[in-house]
Amino acid sequence: MNIDGKQTAAELRETLAISVAKLKEEKQIVPGLTVVLVGEDPASQVYVRNKVKQTREVGMISNEIRLPAQTTQAHLLEQLEQLNNDKNVHGILVQLPLPKHIDESTIIAAISPEKDVDGFHAMNSGRLLNGEDGALVPCTPQGCVILAKKHLGDDLSGKHAVIIGRSNIVGKPVALLLLQENCTVTIAHSRTKNLPEICQQADILVAAVGRPKFVKADWVKPGATVIDVGINRIEIDGKAKLVGDVDYDAVSKVCGAITPVPGGVGPMTIACLLKNTVEAANRLS
Ligand code: GUN
Repeated sequence: MNIDGKQTAAELRETLAISVAKLKEEKQIVPGLTVVLVGEDPASQVYVRNKVKQTREVGMISNEIRLPAQTTQAHLLEQLEQLNNDKNVHGILVQLPLPKHIDESTIIAAISPEKDVDGFHAMNSGRLLNGEDGALVPCTPQGCVILAKKHLGDDLSGKHAVIIGRSNIVGKPVALLLLQENCTVTIAHSRTKNLPEICQQADILVAAVGRPKFVKADWVKPGATVIDVGINRIEIDGKAKLVGDVDYDAVSKVCGAITPVPGGVGPMTIACLLKNTVEAANRLS
């Protein structure tokens, strides 16, 4: 059975549109998200266009700052300072990756934690780690948990979650979120020994490795819930195709439920970005 991320994201956006209307009516605030794009990376341009479009669709203000690839780090830091001080901006997102001469961690650290809708600032990852209120939580991990609950219900308590991948953007935060849900959490990665055996123990298997069709059917416990975070562009018979980190055709015959690629985790990421922006606007107002 597929877990429909497109539908779930649309439902979340409907709920957010209601919250946005309420903020307008009760506090005369329109949540504003500013996306900063440095350079001309084609994939980033597509992501940014989608973010802008969906932000407007739920009734929020969307601004886009496009800077040339040769922009200096100092200039980008100045732009962020202005956005940090702008009362009409509630969320700031700097699209990654950045050009090589700009240090990503310096840039992330310069975003006001209260406006860091990506949830990448150390203040937000620290709050998530400590289980404190008020963290802005990274978007893709939030999407993963929402989709797991869509199939399993709200109580994930006691389930064994195995995550393949330990990135700051997905692997680590999704592990913390599932731990907060009282799952038993295993984080596996490129150096893990006996990866198939470990995956076989998973009630919830999250694949975030960035390798096409990496997870095979005999790694998956029958009935498990599989969350595929991968977005890999490959060529099959001369045609470009988008595939996940999971060998979908084989795994879908074994598992209880799986998020397809495309149409699974992907659409949830932007919906959760909008959710974070509404939350930030609520807290800043
Ligand atoms: N590039 C790819 N994914 C992301 C994301 O979630 N946030 C940002 N800022 N850049 C990205």
